[in-house]
Amino acid sequence: MQYKYLLEYNKKNHECNPCHVAIIMDGNGRWATRQGKIRIMGHKEGFRAVKEAIKFSIANNLKILTLYAFSSENWNRPLFEIKALMELFLFALDTEIKNLKKHNIRFKVIGDITCFDKKLQNSIHYAEQITFDNTGLILNIAANYGGRWDIIESVKKIINRVQRGILDVNKIQENTISQYLSTSELLPVDLVIRTGGEKRISNFLLWQIAYSELYFTDVLWPDFNCHIFQHAIDSFVSRERRFGGFKKNKK
Ligand code: FPP
Repeated sequence: MQYKYLLEYNKKNHECNPCHVAIIMDGNGRWATRQGKIRIMGHKEGFRAVKEAIKFSIANNLKILTLYAFSSENWNRPLFEIKALMELFLFALDTEIKNLKKHNIRFKVIGDITCFDKKLQNSIHYAEQITFDNTGLILNIAANYGGRWDIIESVKKIINRVQRGILDVNKIQENTISQYLSTSELLPVDLVIRTGGEKRISNFLLWQIAYSELYFTDVLWPDFNCHIFQHAIDSFVSRERRFGGFKKNKK
């Protein structure tokens, strides 16, 4: 039902703004170091930039905003930083839940959250449930997420169905993999933005971004604002997307 509605939306808006923007929010630590502060202050300021990105997405009628908040590799950070990040996620959820409802935002998390603290898991489930019927922006947070993990999980589900005789192995196609990914109910990612100067994907939505447009900026995430977001959108709108074909959707 929701997917059908999104497809309609996509058809109408395909020639202008992106429907689904995914952001790799990088540079919090460097931002803090440059200010002579501890790294966690960069994450706190990063939360302010998250709120600005959400406001911009609503104002510009984007349908889905996916944010890479914690990668499966982020467990390699010092325990103090991980703990502080988890506390920040919990604080963000507890304080912003009323705003999610007020702004008709559907909150969703992708990633393996089973190793998070029980309290955080409960807050995530609560926010997902209470906003499930909201029809505005889908705020999709990638937490303990890895693109390879997502593909492995999809493959496991497919193998399970093949073993149970529900799925014919010869019928497996590209969209079979997509159908079992954590993003199965979402529209394709149109635009990936990465802040912080690095030009790599860092195990983000690997399968999903095969034909996404990429936008890299040196701006550190806490300095990200509506002007930079607009610049990324303008860059997207000016591009011709061919999806491997010939002059398809734009100009
Ligand atoms: C990468 O910067 C950022 C993260 C690993 C965490 C992102 C978290 C937030 C923006 C905080 C709030 C988010 C939500 C959704 C409540 P980095 O630490 O790798 O920076 P560096 O490359 O400069 O070290």
